[in-house]
Amino acid sequence: MLSDNSTVAARAQTVVWESGAVEMIDQTELPGREVVARCTSVDDVIACIKRLAVRGAPAIGVAGGYAVALAAIAHDPATDREGFDHDVARLRAARPTAVNLARMVDRVAAATTDAASALAAAHAVRDEELGASTAMGEHGADLLLEMAGDRPLRVMTICNTGGLASVDRGTALAVIQTLHERGKLVEAIPLETRPLLQGGRLTTWELGRMGAPHRLIVDSAAASLLRRGFADAVVVGADRIAANGDTANKIGTFSLALAARHAGVPFVVVAPESTVDTDTATGDDIEIEDRDDDEVSIVRGVQITPPGTRTINPAFDVTPVELIDALVTDKRIVHFRAGETLDDRRADDARDRTGLSQQKELG
Ligand code: MRU
Repeated sequence: MLSDNSTVAARAQTVVWESGAVEMIDQTELPGREVVARCTSVDDVIACIKRLAVRGAPAIGVAGGYAVALAAIAHDPATDREGFDHDVARLRAARPTAVNLARMVDRVAAATTDAASALAAAHAVRDEELGASTAMGEHGADLLLEMAGDRPLRVMTICNTGGLASVDRGTALAVIQTLHERGKLVEAIPLETRPLLQGGRLTTWELGRMGAPHRLIVDSAAASLLRRGFADAVVVGADRIAANGDTANKIGTFSLALAARHAGVPFVVVAPESTVDTDTATGDDIEIEDRDDDEVSIVRGVQITPPGTRTINPAFDVTPVELIDALVTDKRIVHFRAGETLDDRRADDARDRTGLSQQKELG
């Protein structure tokens, strides 16, 4: 794998196919250095996904899709199906919780007869995620503004759900960006998001680049600040949404939802349809990724614990649907708090894409 110093600002998207390779902004280096990781093999992409150089459910789905094209270059499916299938299996297992990875890898693999068809399918996955970001931003901003009586909002969020986690504007952060563009954002309040500081390192970086007002908080300040009235809404992304609406997202999301409900602050999940997994019945069926001790005990290269300290380091948690007021996708709004289910408001039901008329029942 090669790295170069092309400035991230010069790149339109987080993950791109460039001259026979998958290129991605190396998110482990941000905000200090803007480095592009160039992946020329399936192993390169798997390494980037595992070390979170590329991260966020939609972004790893897109990266995985392009990696299938690399697999088809290395193993022509017409003559070496076994080699191709082996790479596909390794790719889809690189991270277990976000459904987007396995789903997009499977989708591109199913469309692959050769490298060209794999690449075309991967481009289609990327294009869908691009369009979805814009739609989620608009639907989410409409919903929050109607809930707030069109008043400008203070919005709390966790982890990084912006263009870095997607390929363009993102999910929850796309809603915040859209509010800002409409002149309706008082401030964003990102949580720092221990252990890997996606909020502190990445969300602040993206908010700064979009010129959006923001103040960072430590994770443990969220509950108290919500109770003290510092935020009008909480918006978060998702890694997998089960059929009953239970939602896996970055560790700390469940605590944030509990705190929001206690404070009477609306809690809204924003995710593309590609994150909805109706094959998974409930949150109890979602595999939660456990990560290494070092992520907790070593902070940006500095050991903060006695050497050898053991940790418990789940990367995600599950927020039960009872704590989620609404789900905003690129195609629909599901008002869980008002008793709607994913099945009631199907994504392919074109009669009322957003269901905004019901949103007063939120909060
Ligand atoms: O471990 P990460 O950084 O990949 O976790 C990412 C999240 O939990 C995001 O909130 C989620 O993927 C939604 S991103 C648009």
